[in-house]
Amino acid sequence: MTARKILVTSALPYANGAIHLGHLVEYIQTDIWVRFQKMRGHDCWYVCADDTHGTPIMLRAEKEGITPEALIRRVHGEHSRDFAGFHVAFDNYYSTHSDETRHYANDIYAKLKAAGLIEVRAIEQFYDPVKQMFLPDRYIKGECPKCGAKDQYGDSCEACGAAYAPTDLKNPLSAVSGAKPELKSSDHYFFKLSDPRCQDFLRSATREVCKAQPEAVNKLQEWLGEPGDNKLTDWDISRDAPYFGFEIPDAPGKYFYVWLDAPIGYMGSFQNFCKRQNLNFDEYWAKDSKAELYHFVGKDILYFHALFWPAELEHAGYRVPTSVFAHGFLTVDGAKMSKSRGTFITAESYLAVGLNPEWLRYYFAAKLNGSMEDIDLNLDDFVSRVNSDLVGKYINIASRAAGFIAKRFGGKLLHSHTNDQFRADMPGLMEAAGEIATHYEGRDFARAIRQIMALADQVNQYVDKNQPWVLAKTVEHEELLHTVCTTLINAFRLLTLYLKPILPKLAQRAEEFLNVAPLHWGDAGHLLPPAHSINPYEHLMTRIEGKQIEALLAANRESLAAPAPPAGAALPEPHSPQRHAEHQQHAAAAEATAGSKEPHISIDDFSKVDLRIARIADASHVEGADKLIRLTLDLGGETRQVFAGIKSAYDPATLVGRLTVMVANLAPRKMKFGMSEGMVLAASDVDDKNAGLFLLSPDSGAMPGMKVK
Ligand code: 2FM
Ligand code: ZN
Repeated sequence: MTARKILVTSALPYANGAIHLGHLVEYIQTDIWVRFQKMRGHDCWYVCADDTHGTPIMLRAEKEGITPEALIRRVHGEHSRDFAGFHVAFDNYYSTHSDETRHYANDIYAKLKAAGLIEVRAIEQFYDPVKQMFLPDRYIKGECPKCGAKDQYGDSCEACGAAYAPTDLKNPLSAVSGAKPELKSSDHYFFKLSDPRCQDFLRSATREVCKAQPEAVNKLQEWLGEPGDNKLTDWDISRDAPYFGFEIPDAPGKYFYVWLDAPIGYMGSFQNFCKRQNLNFDEYWAKDSKAELYHFVGKDILYFHALFWPAELEHAGYRVPTSVFAHGFLTVDGAKMSKSRGTFITAESYLAVGLNPEWLRYYFAAKLNGSMEDIDLNLDDFVSRVNSDLVGKYINIASRAAGFIAKRFGGKLLHSHTNDQFRADMPGLMEAAGEIATHYEGRDFARAIRQIMALADQVNQYVDKNQPWVLAKTVEHEELLHTVCTTLINAFRLLTLYLKPILPKLAQRAEEFLNVAPLHWGDAGHLLPPAHSINPYEHLMTRIEGKQIEALLAANRESLAAPAPPAGAALPEPHSPQRHAEHQQHAAAAEATAGSKEPHISIDDFSKVDLRIARIADASHVEGADKLIRLTLDLGGETRQVFAGIKSAYDPATLVGRLTVMVANLAPRKMKFGMSEGMVLAASDVDDKNAGLFLLSPDSGAMPGMKVK
């Protein structure tokens, strides 16, 4: 097989809000697809970044009394932490506020300009005379011109649904200062999407880009109309100062609109990755690239990705996307996510109440079929499906067989177990690899799961038929018991392999139990070797309890009377379930330490500590903390946020880039400032607190992610 070169992106989240479950649909969908491609042995890279520019981010930073740079740095840490918490393994998670993105924004702009596709025109817009800035539509409020409803935004009315221009509002006011806005003219830069070259190109190319989804092709047809309809209008790509973004090189005081540089952020992030990995950027982005390029996006931003973006790339001399994959929105219990009902659920709160991220990955996967339909998180169904499928059908296979293998057969599988015998006992289980792969490739994860669970049912029927617990009672059935349990362990291994893109951490633990190297797709073609030794079974997954869901809703329910706290700054109430759980955890940890009087630990105890080399990708002061530094640690693909009490000894700026050692499997801890997901190791004198603090460093040659033993 020749390895395909594949570059994959998810939409860049704005750097002014918390990641919530609505976002996670897309990142989990993309991550599953990428993990599948990697398991197949392809060169598949997954890049993303924070979308850092624009008026809302500028105003948000101002409100918090910090610079936009400080805001986006903090949010980058929060987003990285949340994604890592859900095992979304980007190869690079970067920022659009970067030299690389600026470089490609300038480059694309210059090339479009040279092609005669940029035009400058004066337009009239509302201007806030107090704040001295032009106002985006969402920052103007007034009375709806259609129904008269008060307090409506400048683009559409929430009462009657009418869409209009901000200048149509009656009694408009600036939502920033409350001042009466004035109409003022200023020069704006436009990308000439109406140019026949763009229209003709889009008519021929975007059908190709959207071919994976018939619904998307229909949408495009609607937007493009018939030849001669000239439905596409030019796109305003500039904003006037004050604006947080990139200044347009030949236009002082004018900035690229955030949506111009956002998709260019895909290139910026990949370029940054290429530099570190020694990859050839052009191989993926040059006009004649043979690599595949896929953008996973929500259906609301299909327009940008299927029209503006390919037209920009084409006329700036780059390749266009192979495909754009759009998904629908998330509803919870059949309705839009709602703060008052507690269903606007943040990623952070989900993890903080102790819910397992793989439960959600499984549930979303079971609902994702590659179409643009909305997907519903039905909370009762979530609980019953995870408990019955994952724990009841899949995990139980291992737990039912492992005890007998350990106690009766010294941890070893049968010495004479053959493929033929397995195929006879478990028809179709090995052979399913091809079909399941087709479903993953087509992003029909729901179908993949249906097939995997049907196979799990078959395995459970085999257990019921052979009743190993009955065989275990008589010595003459020893050989048969060994055969049945060997078959079950092999079946469990195959099911694990099939589920691995969805459940990567569970699969890792299952691989440790099975005593095998990380599973690749090709491993479905063989079984475990005869007489293979497996490790003692430790329970791999618990059931969801209803009270955890109640705690989740309570943690997200916002009282209608109380103003929303800024995202990322939300602290649990003193008596909230989150706090309670945290106290219990700490009390249990303290008890465990107090009780341990043993002078020695066994090697097994030591090997429970997962020590890893980590690269300090980012380090910053923590506002309001005297001792802590916030570290973003790169574990070679996975990023963690850790709060380290090393401020007395280090200036954060000097830490960025260096390697250190971290405890990677310490239970995440919710702190006042966010989640801490591990611990870095430092030396200090037990008796002399003033003797200093010394962060450990590995010898040269060590790489992020390497295990320390
Ligand atoms: O809709 C959004 O959240 C945007 N920040 C997505 C940008 S995707 C891409 F174009 F960068
Ligand atoms: Zn109205």
